[in-house]
Amino acid sequence: MQISKAHLALKIQNVNRKTCCNTQNEKRNETFLDFLDYIQMKILANDGISKTGQEALEKAGIEVITTKVAQEQLINFVNAHQIDVILVRSATTVRKEVIDSCPSVKIIGRGGVGMDNIDVDYARSKGIQVINTPAASSASVAELVFAHLFNGVRFLYDANRNMPLDGDTKFNELKKSYAKGTELRGKTLGIIGIGKIGQEVAKIALGCGMNVIACDLLIKNVSVKVELYNGQGIEVSIDTIPFEDVLKNSDFITLHIPKQKEYIIGKKEIALMKKGTAIINASRGGIVDEVALVEALDENHLSFAGLDTFENEPVPAIKVLMNPKISLTPHIGAATEEAQDRIGLELANQIIALTKN
Ligand SMILES: NC(=O)c1ccc[n+]([C@@H]2O[C@H](COP(=O)([O-])OP(=O)(O)OC[C@H]3O[C@@H](n4cnc5c(N)ncnc54)[C@H](O)[C@@H]3O)[C@@H](O)[C@H]2O)c1
Repeated sequence: MQISKAHLALKIQNVNRKTCCNTQNEKRNETFLDFLDYIQMKILANDGISKTGQEALEKAGIEVITTKVAQEQLINFVNAHQIDVILVRSATTVRKEVIDSCPSVKIIGRGGVGMDNIDVDYARSKGIQVINTPAASSASVAELVFAHLFNGVRFLYDANRNMPLDGDTKFNELKKSYAKGTELRGKTLGIIGIGKIGQEVAKIALGCGMNVIACDLLIKNVSVKVELYNGQGIEVSIDTIPFEDVLKNSDFITLHIPKQKEYIIGKKEIALMKKGTAIINASRGGIVDEVALVEALDENHLSFAGLDTFENEPVPAIKVLMNPKISLTPHIGAATEEAQDRIGLELANQIIALTKN
């Protein structure tokens, strides 16, 4: 619900009347002061916000504007509406120029994990709070990894391309060409980066009967709980091993690390992998050298790849898009109803808490 200015003015008058009539009523005065604080706040959720997040903010008296403002109009819009909080996902960028030109902004929020689209250090140096929702989408990204893995071992990425074209005329030929599927159960999944998403991936893998090995720059050991629907579960301890050992010993490799300065997986690393290994990248583009990846797929050294993130987003290389051994999604790891609800609510709660401080 959008609260109109007239509606707010009326509320202030009502609260004001009540608090003035009873100066002893400290509780109400406090509420009134809180209320005054809130109504001064305006949020521009430029890349959208979940209904639950918006409702939580509006319930706290904060105005949420969900108009999608074009990047080049952002500064004008923020200044014209005296926006206090800019919320973005990955589409809108909040760089130094926006920060310098919009003195009303006190909080910048990123619905999601990576903050590559925000000049975080610069904003913080100007006293602006920068917040994100680090854990809210982990389970959704992990499920997408498995969507690519299950897809890959049964060639669905290719069958879905060919069935509409030839399914009615070459059914038996297609049946034959996809006949050599494999199971995930009993295979080894190598996780590069066993942070929040890596651990969610490990839980699903263990639940599927896979062996899990992992490496991490900082983490030496994690204990993950494989949970049943009824809350029962089993704790599994995973010691990390060297990066090269993960490369050499995995049937499938999935990456869950932040953006790096250089490729983590290039020609040299792929050469260390067993023939037939598959790679999933739902972390960040630029971590896997796409030229080396396509080459290894074409030479049958790798069996398939699943990519949710690309070196050149939002215009991925045609060679990647057209490769018949790559399962493709357009950076949708966090794009589930559940993750967006958690992201919206987490942002709302953080903003409300910051406003109270
Ligand atoms: N596909 C999507 O839509 C989507 C959604 C959310 C997050 N992500 C991305 O997923 C990635 C992981 O997110 P997270 O929440 O698990 O982060 P996290 O910080 O919880 O975990 C990352 C882990 O990677 C480790 N690490 C960093 N560099 C490494 C390296 N070179 N080798 C080995 N380990 C390394 C860190 O020590 C850390 O434990 C981020 O890049 C994030 O942007 C993608």
